[in-house]
Amino acid sequence: MQIITTITEMRSCIQAARQRGLRIGLVPTMGALHAGHGSLIERAVRECGFVVVSIFVNPTQFGPNEDLAKYPRTFEADAAYCRQLGAAAIFAPTTEQMYPQPQLAWVEVEKLTDGLCGASRPGHFRGVTTVCAKLFNIITPDIAYFGQKDAQQAIVIQRMAADLNMPLEIRVCPIVREPDGLAMSSRNRYLSADERRRAVCLSQALQWCQERIAGGCTDASALIGTMREMIQSQGGRIDYIQIVDAQTLEPVLQIRGRVLIAMAVYIGTTRLIDNCVIDLKADEKVV
Ligand code: PAJ
Repeated sequence: MQIITTITEMRSCIQAARQRGLRIGLVPTMGALHAGHGSLIERAVRECGFVVVSIFVNPTQFGPNEDLAKYPRTFEADAAYCRQLGAAAIFAPTTEQMYPQPQLAWVEVEKLTDGLCGASRPGHFRGVTTVCAKLFNIITPDIAYFGQKDAQQAIVIQRMAADLNMPLEIRVCPIVREPDGLAMSSRNRYLSADERRRAVCLSQALQWCQERIAGGCTDASALIGTMREMIQSQGGRIDYIQIVDAQTLEPVLQIRGRVLIAMAVYIGTTRLIDNCVIDLKADEKVV
């Protein structure tokens, strides 16, 4: 497995892989890899002959009061994990490589970035789409892999690729969870033992909501109200809990069709996100 830190070297490595007729897969990450990232890498390795994992803590997607400086960096372990899973290369550029001069060109996806995480993290998605556009231009993947864990991010990236005619496919992979249900995240390592126990309230509330919908409840605000209580009873401070149309990300009042139930909650000072998608056939009669 090659470890590549410059754009020039990355481009020539891709050129060599293309000459061998290999399909290029890209898994963009910020490192501190866990089994959630691992599931994306494994799928990429199954589907592509040459898999690049990018590891870059992208400063432009962090707000001024966010955790850029303390974001976990575990490069040695990440490299060993990528090697074990069969990645062909890691692309780990410096900030100077990715942003050699003040960035004047940005990629922005409108509307889909207004709500959910976009509302509480202004500029976040602009940073994400811009760095992903750069990575796509440098690595020219045939397929790029993203996790459903960051549901809004996956939708925004798919829309960017479609609207800008980017010649690649975006594949979205399911959320990988801890045995108790907590969605795996690099930020879980910020949690104290007590916070870690309480953090399970996010997935429990989603699970409860799914069951209620399966039982016939379609009243979004009633469902949200109970989920809020479940999370607050565990000391969680809610950033948002919303039920939105899974395509447009517009809030819905009645559950029908495909909806995304998404939340961001602070447990202590750590902001955690989780979500699930529910698909009720439009013509299904729900009482
Ligand atoms: P990061 O948080 O490192 O996540 C990298 C990818 O792993 C994302 O597509 C994310 O959705 C996926 N992922 C994280 N936890 C997961 C889980 N528990 N199950 C399944 N997939 C999971 O997301 C980013 O980095 C950045 O915004 C990035 C796209 C790299 C741009 O900087």
